[in-house]
Amino acid sequence: MDFDDFVRASNQGVDPAVYEIENAAIDRHGVLWAALKDQAPWRGRVLLDLGCGSGFWLPRYRDAGEVIGVEPDVNLLDLARARRAPARVLHGSAEHIPLPDGSVDVVHARFAYFFPHPSFDPTPGLVEVSRVLRPGGRLVVIDNDTEAGEFAALLKASPWAATQGRDTYARDWWADKGARTTPVMSSWEFDTRTDLEAVLRLEFPEALAETWLGRHPDRTALSYGNLIHTWPPD
Ligand SMILES: C[S@@+](CC[C@H](N)C(=O)[O-])C[C@H]1O[C@@H](n2cnc3c(N)ncnc32)[C@H](O)[C@@H]1O
Repeated sequence: MDFDDFVRASNQGVDPAVYEIENAAIDRHGVLWAALKDQAPWRGRVLLDLGCGSGFWLPRYRDAGEVIGVEPDVNLLDLARARRAPARVLHGSAEHIPLPDGSVDVVHARFAYFFPHPSFDPTPGLVEVSRVLRPGGRLVVIDNDTEAGEFAALLKASPWAATQGRDTYARDWWADKGARTTPVMSSWEFDTRTDLEAVLRLEFPEALAETWLGRHPDRTALSYGNLIHTWPPD
């Protein structure tokens, strides 16, 4: 089955191997992870990773009662299923979650689907998430902070700014839905300069990546601001 709301990710959908390096560079000090737990603890609960991609984060929810991944891209779905994780991985999308009503305690959407901008309204996915959430359940969306950190500056300078980084459109959209937004400053930290270069070249047009790399010849890390949107707030 194809999903009419599915757009292949321009990063992980194109080069899952380099995106694996990117995921491994994210939040090495656990600041973001701690903030996610704080927003909606998952110990002993049913956690759904919506748009789980190749499933990088699935094995990390060790203390959840049950872990479920949902992913529309069949290539990534296969990678997620091949990962050694005690998780069910299902073909689905934010608009079509193959789970019963009221069956999930915590939904994480990590850089997946919820990118509201003037020509994309993710309300249908929010309605579907609210269907599968149990009373008292939470959706926690991990997004980029478009205002803070070195990654935000790159985003602003990139063509993706029009949909993901020009202003506070996404933050305002969530505020309008009554969500609570929590900024978290984290980082990307790579083992090698080569890894950083590969990821910057995956995420940004060549000229922009080369300019940043040229200005920061010794760096293997950069600061990365995230926004966590929690819905409903309490
Ligand atoms: C940047 S990747 C992030 C993947 C994963 N969450 C991670 O952090 O490794 C974006 C993901 O969103 C998925 N996606 C795209 N459209 C979607 C939709 N309508 N519903 C759910 N996921 C979607 C893509 O296939 C891709 O797996």
